Amino acid sequence: MTDKSKLVKELFEDTALYLTYDYNLQIRKETIESFTKDLQFSSVLDMPCGTGTISLPLLDRTDKLTFIDISSNMLSMAEKNTPTASKQKVIYINDDFFNIDIPDNSYDLVICLGLLAHVNSPEQLLHKLSRIITPGGLLIIQNTDAAHFYSYLIHGYLKLKSLISKQLYKLNQVKGSFVEHQLETQGLKKIKTYRYNQSFLGFSNLFSNEKKYSMTRNFFGYADNNKHAGWGSDVTYLFKKN
Ligand SMILES: C[S@@+](CC[C@H](N)C(=O)[O-])C[C@H]1O[C@@H](n2cnc3c(N)ncnc32)[C@H](O)[C@@H]1O
Repeated sequence: MTDKSKLVKELFEDTALYLTYDYNLQIRKETIESFTKDLQFSSVLDMPCGTGTISLPLLDRTDKLTFIDISSNMLSMAEKNTPTASKQKVIYINDDFFNIDIPDNSYDLVICLGLLAHVNSPEQLLHKLSRIITPGGLLIIQNTDAAHFYSYLIHGYLKLKSLISKQLYKLNQVKGSFVEHQLETQGLKKIKTYRYNQSFLGFSNLFSNEKKYSMTRNFFGYADNNKHAGWGSDVTYLFKKN
């Protein structure tokens, strides 16, 4: 395991920390629902699955769902959250995505939210994801666009925070143009995006999850009606493989 993988695993073994952002999980879950509306799948991969919240609703529309996460605590939560009646459809893998051998063209939907900021090589991640999707299959991937003005504010805020609390963990800064170019070179075509802002820049504790959800929805709207999209640094993409 690389140093970065060890750090990220340690960070996400603490599930409580991540669950404080549950309004964001709700937005992500609804975005997936909107992007996949009326579609049926034979094999879905959610990697990294976190608590599984985002993709579990797809169980009614897929024959098989694979969950991968490097954090054993996250994966246990995903297992706990799986309805017993659907457990036989779900495969749980607790490992680093880069260590797992996956044949080409394995999944007709791959969901990858919240990972680009945490890997050693965003380029390798995008290549592996592109390879394992079936022709005609879909990729839903999220990135915080490092070239967006709001990302400069987020990184300035995080830098200040790390100086005060001596945090060692650093997020990757990946530009949207890089993600789009890499995936297009691998034969994927951009179909849709939903843009909003995840960070409340140090003011997060002032609002409840319900309030943050309603403020985000009032300003940015929903995936099928994205308002003020240009103000959003956080991009969820829907790509289709040729
Ligand atoms: C920000 S969370 C996102 C979880 C989920 N996709 C979501 O949107 O709620 C990042 C997750 O990535 C997992 N992770 C980080 N690096 C990984 C890797 N190399 N392979 C598999 N999982 C990884 C972490 O354990 C954590 O659960």
